[in-house]
Amino acid sequence: MWAGRVAKPSAAWLARIKVALFLACLLPTVLLALGVYQDRLGPNPIEVVTRGTGEWTLRLLLITLTVTPLCRSSGWKWLMRMRRMLGLFAFYYALLHLGSYLWLDQFFDWGAIGRDILKRPFITVGVAAFMLLVPLAATSNQAMVRRLGGRRWLRLHRSVYLIAILAVTHFWWLVKRDITEPVVYASILAVLLGMRLPLHRWGQARTQAAAKGRARVTGPAWPRNP
Ligand code: HEM
Repeated sequence: MWAGRVAKPSAAWLARIKVALFLACLLPTVLLALGVYQDRLGPNPIEVVTRGTGEWTLRLLLITLTVTPLCRSSGWKWLMRMRRMLGLFAFYYALLHLGSYLWLDQFFDWGAIGRDILKRPFITVGVAAFMLLVPLAATSNQAMVRRLGGRRWLRLHRSVYLIAILAVTHFWWLVKRDITEPVVYASILAVLLGMRLPLHRWGQARTQAAAKGRARVTGPAWPRNP
C-alpha cells in the first residue's frame, strides 16, 4: 500500500512534493542571505557567497542528471515532473554565482572581467558552461518543447552532459591543493554518464528496429528528455 503510494502519488501529494522540493532548493539562498545579513560568513563573505552558489549550481546539475536513471530503475515516473524545477534551480544558482562574481568580485569592471575570462582557464570554462545553460533554461517550458519538436529539443538538451563536464572541470581547475571535492563530483558525474550508455544503446536499437519496421520493441519509450 505504502509502496504503491510512493510509486504513484495522488495529485495532492505530487503538489506537496513539488512545494517541498521548491523550498528545499531555495534553502541555500536563504541561509546565504541570512549569513550575509547577520555577518556570519567569516572574514571573506564574498568568497563564501561565490563558492556557495557555485557548489549549489553543480550539485543541482548532478541531481537533475540523476532523475532519469532513478526514474527508470525505480519505476517512479512522477520523478520526471520534478526534473524541470531542479534544472531551473541549477540555472538560478548559476545566475547568482555569475552575479556575485560580476558584482561583488569584479564590481562590473568589464575590462578586468574580459581579461579574467581570457587569462584564467577555469573562468573561461565556467563562462562556457553558463552560456550553454542559457538556451536550456530558455527552452525548458512545454511551449518551447512543442515549438522545437521533441527531437530538436532533446538534441539541444543533451548539451547538459557537456555542461556538467565543463562545470566539474571548472571546479577542478580552480582548486589549488586538495582535489577531494572535485574528484567526488567527477566520480558522481562519471557514474551518471556511464549509466546512460546502456540506455543510449537501447534507444538506438529501438529506433533502428522501428525504422526497419520489423521488430516489435517492448518496454517504455525512450525518454523524450535527457
Ligand atoms: C554552470 C556554471 C558554473 C558552475 C557549475 C560553477 C561551479 C563552481 C564551483 C563548484 C566552484 C567552487 C566552489 C568551492 O570552492 O567550494 C566555483 C567557484 C568559482 N566560480 Fe564557478 N561555476 C560556474 C560558472 C562560473 C562563471 C560563469 C564564473 C565567472 C564568470 C565563475 C566564477 C567562479 C569563481 C570566481 C569562483 C571562486 C574561485 C575562488 O574562490 O578561488 N563560475 N564555481
